[in-house]
Amino acid sequence: MIILAIETSCDETSISVLDAKGGFRNPRFNILSNIVASQIKIHKKWGGVVPNLAKREHLKNLPIVLKKAMVKAKISAKKVDVIAVTVGPGLEPALWTGINFAKALSEVWDKPVIPVNHMEGHLLSVLLNKKQFLISNFQFPILGLLVSGGHTELVLMRDWLKYKIIGQTRDDAVGEAFDKVARMLGLPYPGGPEIAAKAAQISNSKFLISNIKLPRPMINSNDFDFSFSGLKTAVLYLIKELSEAEKTGSRRIPRYDRPQESRFLGEATVIGICREFQQAAIDVLVSKTIKAAQKYGAKTIVLGGGVAANKELRKQLRGAFAGDSKQTVNLLFPEIKFTTDNAAMIAATAYFRTLKREFVKKPNRFKANGNLSLK
Ligand code: KG4
Ligand code: ZN
Repeated sequence: MIILAIETSCDETSISVLDAKGGFRNPRFNILSNIVASQIKIHKKWGGVVPNLAKREHLKNLPIVLKKAMVKAKISAKKVDVIAVTVGPGLEPALWTGINFAKALSEVWDKPVIPVNHMEGHLLSVLLNKKQFLISNFQFPILGLLVSGGHTELVLMRDWLKYKIIGQTRDDAVGEAFDKVARMLGLPYPGGPEIAAKAAQISNSKFLISNIKLPRPMINSNDFDFSFSGLKTAVLYLIKELSEAEKTGSRRIPRYDRPQESRFLGEATVIGICREFQQAAIDVLVSKTIKAAQKYGAKTIVLGGGVAANKELRKQLRGAFAGDSKQTVNLLFPEIKFTTDNAAMIAATAYFRTLKREFVKKPNRFKANGNLSLK
């Protein structure tokens, strides 16, 4: 089955053509094309995604991305069996552009359309991992750790397409916290890769590393929820305090390319803050994932979402489950290119929905739902 998927929930305009077969027993995907037009450069100036700018860019990009996706896939519209489109969660003005585009294509090409949940796409993105993926490793119950710019969720999947959110953030998403902390330090958007890169740098200041301490919010709470807003505020206070101390203690030239609160920080301190912030976030994510896996007897752990690109998070999750001497848990990571938003993961998700015949001939009633939840 050939699926053409459209993703416009945030700041990437993406269209993918996917050849899917094998059913629930042995799903196999051949990505004929997966074009992603990133708007990062446009939003960088504003330090984050501006919904109406995103909408304007999607409108401009969609026809171009479609053409590229079809040319790369080397197929004609006739060969497409079904169109898939992300309907939520995400930025509603952005989602609408994809939905309206899908409706128009459906009309012109006379093809049915499948609405797809963006988070389900992130959760199933591991299935696109050609190099490592074996369906025999994808055993239920599956626990998904979804970490993106808008979401932080632990999702239990007891069977195909059956989801239960067992924990989620009560305030900021972890990716959002990375982005906001980066902004405080004068690092560009998106902040996740910037913080990760700083945290990986060698710093020769042992004093700073041992003196920079941040809280691990909710790490001992008796549930699987998260909170990253307090961590972000703690970073702000720490930055102010250290910047003030370094201002009086040295003759450092202020960095006017940074916000006021971090203007006097030395490079070693920035590295120390990035490292401790990243570690605090990872500690909470790993600890809750272990506890949830034990409670629900998960046989597989799946990682998904933009923050899943974080190498340290992957390494520490691997370390945490390597201690499992019985080797009962399979840990599955998506390929890095499928961690951030892309339409290939939307197409793969749509494939399973087609197996349940969840497509609609006339998608007139499709609506964008910014808060769409997994269920
Ligand atoms: O899934 P995604 O592309 O968009 C949403 O659905 O939100 O995730 C984007 C988020 C951003 O917050 C970005 O800073 C974060 O993923 N991110 C990372 C890394 N790469 C991207 N966070 C931590 N470490 C990374 N290497
Ligand atoms: Zn996403």
